[in-house]
Amino acid sequence: MTEELRQEETLAASSPLIEMTGINKYYPVGKNQLHVLKNLNLTIERGEFLMIMGKSGSGKTTLMNIIGFLDQTSDGSYIFDEQDVSQLTENQKSELRNKYIGFIFQQFFLIQSLNVSQNVELPMVYEGQKKESKRKKIAEHYLQLVGLEGKESSKTTELSGGQQQRVAIARALVNEPLLIMADEPTGALDSETSADIMNILSDLNKEGKTIVMVTHDNDMKKYASRVVYMKDGLFLTEEEFNHA
Ligand SMILES: Nc1ncnc2c1ncn2[C@@H]1O[C@H](COP(=O)(O)OP(=O)(O)O)[C@@H](O)[C@H]1O
Ligand SMILES: [Mg+2]
Repeated sequence: MTEELRQEETLAASSPLIEMTGINKYYPVGKNQLHVLKNLNLTIERGEFLMIMGKSGSGKTTLMNIIGFLDQTSDGSYIFDEQDVSQLTENQKSELRNKYIGFIFQQFFLIQSLNVSQNVELPMVYEGQKKESKRKKIAEHYLQLVGLEGKESSKTTELSGGQQQRVAIARALVNEPLLIMADEPTGALDSETSADIMNILSDLNKEGKTIVMVTHDNDMKKYASRVVYMKDGLFLTEEEFNHA
């Protein structure tokens, strides 16, 4: 058997990273319930670059928060890496989140009182397993990967928006997560800087990282291996979405 075939077999045999079935989400609004996610089914395979496309208010961030264990479903089943998320305690979810999921947000969310390296080291500090010297080495490695070598001691406020997002990407990578989640990661960047950031994410995906990204920007589709379209808490086909 060739190496390629063997790899294909291993991949085919592995379970999806994420399996969601019949997911609903309601937010209480006064005496009423706002139905934000409507009976969604979503399977995400390992190695995908999945893009969730939809206008503002369609429920993308709500779905991302659920995928990242930051929020709970109202009902339905959510299996992450073969584990039933509804059976996990808050502590277990925090641990899994820190270990298996790297987050990137539109607003970067860097801590200004910490330098660049310290920001990147944070997920390792939370994990609490590595000495400071080891953390610094790992941070340096990932900062190099995103093209920020030499910026370890810089203040985050001295960096451009694109550089700050690179720091956030390095921070998302240091624990070697199974999944990178990016909510409008280029939403605060100009188009040239956006392309740089998307190329970094695209390279990470080509090296095998699973990525789920949310966007309202049609131009981002070209970076994805699969696109799902969302409107008013429902998944639509591309055709339905374009005519909606
Ligand atoms: N915590 C909340 N409480 C009540 N309504 C919310 C809350 N979060 C979001 N919503 C509503 O849920 C809908 C979907 O929001 P969101 O998931 O943020 O959409 P998107 O990210 O696609 O813009 C919107 O109508 C929004 O106003
Ligand atoms: Mg949103």
